[in-house]
Amino acid sequence: MPDELLMIPGPTNLAPRVMEAMSRPQLSHTDPRFVESFKEVLDLARYLFVNQTGTPFVISGSGTIGMEAAIVSLVEHGDKVLCLDNGFFGRRFVDLSTIHGAKVETLCFELGRHADPEAVDEKLSEGGYKAVTITHIETSTGLANPIIDLVKIARKHGVYSVIDAVAGVGGCELVFDRLGADIVITCSQKAISAPPGATLLAISKRALDAFENRKTPIRSYYMNLARWRKFMENPGMYLTTPSIQILLALREALLMIKEEGLEERWRRHKIIADAIRAGLEGLNVDLTVEEGYRANTVTGFYTPKDKAFDIYSMMRNRYKIQLAQGLGELKGKMLRIGHFGGITPRDVLALLSALEMSLRAVNINIRAGLAVEAARPCLEKI
Ligand SMILES: Cc1ncc(COP(=O)(O)O)c(C=O)c1O
Repeated sequence: MPDELLMIPGPTNLAPRVMEAMSRPQLSHTDPRFVESFKEVLDLARYLFVNQTGTPFVISGSGTIGMEAAIVSLVEHGDKVLCLDNGFFGRRFVDLSTIHGAKVETLCFELGRHADPEAVDEKLSEGGYKAVTITHIETSTGLANPIIDLVKIARKHGVYSVIDAVAGVGGCELVFDRLGADIVITCSQKAISAPPGATLLAISKRALDAFENRKTPIRSYYMNLARWRKFMENPGMYLTTPSIQILLALREALLMIKEEGLEERWRRHKIIADAIRAGLEGLNVDLTVEEGYRANTVTGFYTPKDKAFDIYSMMRNRYKIQLAQGLGELKGKMLRIGHFGGITPRDVLALLSALEMSLRAVNINIRAGLAVEAARPCLEKI
């Protein structure tokens, strides 16, 4: 049993077979058994993204490496990039694009409100943009942006779309082959439920061609996706030493996703998310995201005045359930619940009961039993 139930937006608790994969004797990175396992990871990454039309990439490093690799490989100095910003992680693309020399324009939306496709259409109509960056699930609030509509607009304007789907892939529906995006990024420690340390990307043929046809060289060694492409085609070659244990654990976690089935996994995540949202509403707390755009993997809620840290501490110390605190300007005002990966109805019941007890302990007047009662109809669907 893990010491603590992690209900943060990654990393998650790990399944025993995922942990076991990390405790085997060390293999060399050129050992045929590892090379075979890595090829399997690539095949499973195709399954995960529903990606038969593009190319899967898996690289050692956190999700930010995937984001930065996408930007540095696609964008040249002086290229115009539009960054959609409705929170902390949307802004990360602003920083990355600026560092790598793009002329960045930012379209900001209120925290907890979706990126409006019409506003994006109007902005891109100004012309001259090379790429648009979009956050699928904005983890700082629990917002799901309307990526299907946003990508459609990018395509209409002939602009490359780069999607940070770090907190979505494996938990929220995303079909790369239908979406039409150019680069979609995720990483191991979120809805895949593997340990941190690997980033996974799905890349369109159009984007791969763009890496090859640049006017200037890609200004990175490690994050050069044109270089990594050769490795993805021939994982037996030496490029850099991969994080072997992490990748073996990732293989196991991806196999578990395939065994469950993607559609079933998306359905389970939706039911769990509906239950958590209903439970929170039963507790009379306000969610941070407008209705219709709430993610099935992360939920944020405002805490009664000055109580965020007390509730967080009570949950962690007394009930051994870790939630995440607010990021940036939301620190101290809200808490976040990560509910992805191997999450079960048992975890939801523990979460809602402990949250109710914690709210009562900080003198918030709610009747006992309301949260679980509100979540019950959803959980019965599992
Ligand atoms: C939406 C989103 N993008 C990017 C990242 C960055 O991923 P990493 O911390 O693995 O670099 C995170 C991490 O929480 C995230 O939630």
